[in-house]
Amino acid sequence: MAQKSVVENVATVRRKQVTTPRNLRGMLSLDDFERRAKSYLPKSIYGYISGGVETDDTLKANRAAFRGIPFQPRVLRDVSTRQTTVDLFGDTLAVPFGIAPMGFSALAAYDGDVSLARGAAQAGSFAICSAASLTPLERVATEGGSRWFQAYIPGDETRIGALLERVAKAGFDRLVITADAPVAGNRENNARNGFDAPFRVTPKIAWQGITHPRWTIGTLGREILTRGMPHFENMEAIQGPPLFSKDLVRSTIGRDRLCWDSVRFIRKNWTGKLIIKGVLHPQDARIAQEAGCDGIIVSNHGGRQLDGTVSTLAALPPIRKEVPEMTVMFDSGIRRGTDVLKAIMLGADFVFIGRPFLFAAATNGEAGVIHAIRLLRDEIDRNMAFLGITQPYDIRGSDLAPMR
Ligand code: FNR
Repeated sequence: MAQKSVVENVATVRRKQVTTPRNLRGMLSLDDFERRAKSYLPKSIYGYISGGVETDDTLKANRAAFRGIPFQPRVLRDVSTRQTTVDLFGDTLAVPFGIAPMGFSALAAYDGDVSLARGAAQAGSFAICSAASLTPLERVATEGGSRWFQAYIPGDETRIGALLERVAKAGFDRLVITADAPVAGNRENNARNGFDAPFRVTPKIAWQGITHPRWTIGTLGREILTRGMPHFENMEAIQGPPLFSKDLVRSTIGRDRLCWDSVRFIRKNWTGKLIIKGVLHPQDARIAQEAGCDGIIVSNHGGRQLDGTVSTLAALPPIRKEVPEMTVMFDSGIRRGTDVLKAIMLGADFVFIGRPFLFAAATNGEAGVIHAIRLLRDEIDRNMAFLGITQPYDIRGSDLAPMR
């Protein structure tokens, strides 16, 4: 598919009189997609997406942190010229948010990785292609128009070099290195629901398939018929093992050996933008800057790695203070336009959202992703009017939060 430039898409989004397809009319907020996805998806897959780790303390803390930051709006300011557009690394985007990288998307949504990338591009934003995706990154680049790739970096330099070469050759020029996953999180809900790699068709899983025929036929069956058995495609320079392989032990490719020296090595061998995802400590933000990284994503992986971490919203202000010149991005727990604006108010230049967009792709494909982005954009636009500002960054350094 020929991809339009982001700027063209921004213009199109502004011009278009949007008519919402009938099956999306009841979808009024991001959470509505989660409700719909819960009945569409087998329990194991819904649990894999929605869940956190252990007691879900971090997952809950992320949401609670947003509630703890109220606005104190200003009134009677002319807000008729407001717009949600922002610039990120020289790109103009229609909205101050993008779609976070999510592994296994093609298991939840038919052609999930491409749907997320295309939907985001159509709505003037972008999706980050995950290292743990089941779609070859080359397809996500050519058919989805994606330029952002997230890597789980193998722990040795020869393998890193080969992966970087593959990613650059495919046309990606923004590389996100996920730093908060040296080992897999303790996702007990996956074990309880039967979601585990290697996938085995146990009686429990078979029953979930039988009782969710729309997913079994419309997503999994269609995926296998169209593209064959899903494989881990993007962990390394070569295709990884199939999802249902009997003797697969899902390799963490030596991620626990990854360190700042590896980042420095990558910096020397990667000419595009380099971003570290999973930063929660101001000192790590500083080291990333000194290592030549272009940006960081303040993230606790949506509460899916270490349970009991600081919420990302609480972590953000000291990080912003430590690296005032750096591009600081943010994710984990955003569900509303007000959340986006609160993160920007506390120092984020841009934010990412994960789960709701995967639910949207699962239930409504590319159209669902576009609709979800529009919902969030409209919320931001409306909230800016209420707050008395005309562009998202106006909220920075403003007096729109009560003095604490
Ligand atoms: C993730 N996340 C993730 N992060 C990453 O760097 N690489 C990955 O492959 C994945 N995979 C993944 C799968 C699923 C199903 C989810 C929900 C999340 C984390 C993701 O990028 C992001 O940090 C969080 O999803 C943000 O939190 P919210 O918006 O989902 O609350």
